[in-house]
Parts: sequence; C-alpha cells; structure tokens
Amino acid sequence: MPTLAERDHAVLWHPYTQMQTAPLPVPIVRGEGSWLIAEDGTRYLDGISSWWVNLHGHAHPHIAARVSAQLHTLEHVLFAGFTHPSAVELAEQLLEILPANQARVFYSDNGSTAVEVAIKMVMQYFHNQGQPERRTFICFRDSYHGDTFGAMSVSGRGAFTAPFGPYLFDVEFIDVPVPGREAEVLAQLDAVVSRPDVAGFIFEPLLLGTAGMVTYSVEVLDELVRRCHRHGVLCIADEVMTGFGRTGPLFASELLTEQPDIMCFSKGLTGVLWLWASLLALVSFMKPF
Ligand SMILES: Cc1ncc(COP(=O)(O)O)c(C=O)c1O
Repeated sequence: MPTLAERDHAVLWHPYTQMQTAPLPVPIVRGEGSWLIAEDGTRYLDGISSWWVNLHGHAHPHIAARVSAQLHTLEHVLFAGFTHPSAVELAEQLLEILPANQARVFYSDNGSTAVEVAIKMVMQYFHNQGQPERRTFICFRDSYHGDTFGAMSVSGRGAFTAPFGPYLFDVEFIDVPVPGREAEVLAQLDAVVSRPDVAGFIFEPLLLGTAGMVTYSVEVLDELVRRCHRHGVLCIADEVMTGFGRTGPLFASELLTEQPDIMCFSKGLTGVLWLWASLLALVSFMKPF
C-alpha cells in the first residue's frame, strides 16, 4: 500500500520544487494553532506560518465557524451587477483600518492576481487619461511579486523566471536601498522617474521577504514615493507579505508620510478569511469603471 507521500509524488506537482530530486513531501493531516501534525503523529511548529499566510493559527474555531456559516448562507454570487453583505462589510471594515487615502476595494483571488490587478489599474488609469505612452514600471531588482506574468515582469529575474523571459514585459530596475546605499538608489530612481513613459513604481514596503528578509528604512521609501508622486508616477505597495502586522504596525505603509496610491493584500487577509480571497484598495482619484 503506497503512503500518502508516495501517492502525492505520483500525481502532483509542487511549487518551487525540483521534482526529480526533491525528497517525498511531509504528509500533514491536521493543524492545531501553531502546530502541524503529520500522519505519523510528529508535530511540526509552523514557524513560517505556512508561507506567511496563517496569522491566527490552524483550524481556528471562530474562523471555521464563520466560514461554515457563510457556506450555508451564500457560497458565491457573480460580482458584476450583484453584491452581498459580506463583501460590503469587509470593504467597510478594511477602509476603517487602512491609511486614510484608501477609498475603495477591489477583490481578486490571491497575491499574484492582486499585483496583476494593481498593474492593470495603473495601465488603465493612464489609458483613460489619454496618456497611453505611460507604460513603464519601476521595481526593485530583488523583489518578488508573484507568479502570474505581470507579477513576474515586475519581479526580480532569476532561475524561476528564466523560462518565461521572452514573455515578460520590460521594466526599470533599481536596487533595494539598504542602509548605506540610500543616496545611490535615489539617484537610480532620479535617472528614470521623470521619463514620459514611466507609469508606476511597485515595491514591497520596508521588507522584501523572498529576497531574504531584506530591510530598508521608512525615510528612504518615503523619499522614493515622494519623488514618484512629483512626476505623476503611481505607487503600488505590495503588502501581500507585510500586511496585517508583519512589520509591527497593521500595515508597513502606515509608517510612511507619503502614502502609496494602491495597496495589495493577500496572505494575512486570506489566511483569516480565505473565502473572501485577496483584495486591492483603490484611492479616491479612481472612479468606478
Ligand atoms: C510580496 C509578495 N507579493 C506577492 C506574492 C504572491 O502571492 P500568492 O502566492 O498569493 O500569489 C507573494 C508571495 O509570497 C509575496 O511575498
């Protein structure tokens, strides 16, 4: 009789895994708070909260009860031309805790697609403004924004993006302004930000997770965003990882005086309310379209 891990190995692909050489996966059958319990009873402390998603612990009774109640009430309704109480209540409650310039919420389905939607919103904004030439994004060289094509395009290039290189759109990379390199990176931004084709700047605020928990200061991010705004460049804070308390405040962007125009959330939010998936908050200058 094959084990669960062997059955997995016969039928599944795993992300970021070289399937030819990877050991069999650990078969987890249950979660309990911070603990994951394997088939053989071994308990694993979920130190990375399942890739930063699980903020409140596994199998949280309150979350399970609310998700179950929602499933028994209404599991889904198309969102074009229809709405439902949970969608409105969640948006209202989020806008109460988000930075004050955030005025509207757009629901997507995960971190990558939240980023995808943010990129498209910037593109569509300039299209609607009659400035289609504004199409270039500025990004940090070591950033990670997800695995869809737009998200990969604005992420650092490496082994995982190499097979898709010809399909990714060009961006302008600047370095992460780690301590001691702030002036150099501000000069890199200055060299591109005033160009008429620049549309947006996307960043993981204060902490780049996948790059290896690389940090940079509030002051330099404030200055980068300020310089972008001076040139009409829209700023997207990808808080998929940093959101919901990961850097201390509820959102890393709260520490800024110069607020981003668009914010992306997923992990912490969907770990709690996975049924409602991830979302984007839009600023007031964007009208419904
Ligand atoms: C900063 C950041 N943005 C986007 C993503 C992509 O999120 P998802 O895996 O939900 O598509 C991640 C995932 O690790 C992330 O850390």
